[in-house]
Amino acid sequence: MARGRFITFEGIEGCGKTTQLLLLASHLRHRGVTVVTTREPGGTPLGERVRNVLLDPQLSPRPLVELFLLEAARAQLVADVIAPALESGKFVLSDRFADSSLAYQGGARRLPRATVQGLNELACAGVVPDRTLIFDLDVELALGRARERPSTSADNRRFEDEVLAFHRAVAESYRGLALAEPARVAIVDAHGTPEEVHERTLAALAGVLP
Ligand code: TYD
Repeated sequence: MARGRFITFEGIEGCGKTTQLLLLASHLRHRGVTVVTTREPGGTPLGERVRNVLLDPQLSPRPLVELFLLEAARAQLVADVIAPALESGKFVLSDRFADSSLAYQGGARRLPRATVQGLNELACAGVVPDRTLIFDLDVELALGRARERPSTSADNRRFEDEVLAFHRAVAESYRGLALAEPARVAIVDAHGTPEEVHERTLAALAGVLP
């Protein structure tokens, strides 16, 4: 059986990537494709518990500890969900993946890139996205949206409360990733209606979609 396809959705908080993941999943399912959707941090029972630790505003993990937690959850997700799905020919869509660690822990928290890259490689065990989409939206606009989300109070406050400069560094780091790996990483302009961004998403996935 042919290996499936792996597409990851990246961007700063409030950029609309989750909406786009759901639109793409339903687009593919309408065409008879078997789709597995997942998210990071999370996606497995272990990963969801790690997620609660990571997003708890009462805990202040050091950047390296944060990275270890993310990579532990990632290793479990790759082994239990992503690799088996790809081996059985499915389409896997993930809301964030290893590039989030490069952008957040590397770019914004300033851990050495080689450290993040090395742990990513260990956790991913050879699984690399066929295409990574970075949804690029004006930082202030995106954060305004993120703060209006109902999930905000209970969920990812710890990251959303970071200062504007932090999110600018994340966005800048994402752009660097796209420049470094243009064959895998595409930037999608995330301004406009969800339908407009969906059309751009489909265009950015030319050659990957059935
Ligand atoms: P989440 O509620 O999933 O936010 P979003 O909707 O923006 O994806 O919170 C996940 C947070 O974890 C988000 O602020 C980014 C952060 N994160 C990292 O810092 N590094 C990572 O490797 C991952 C996967 C997430």
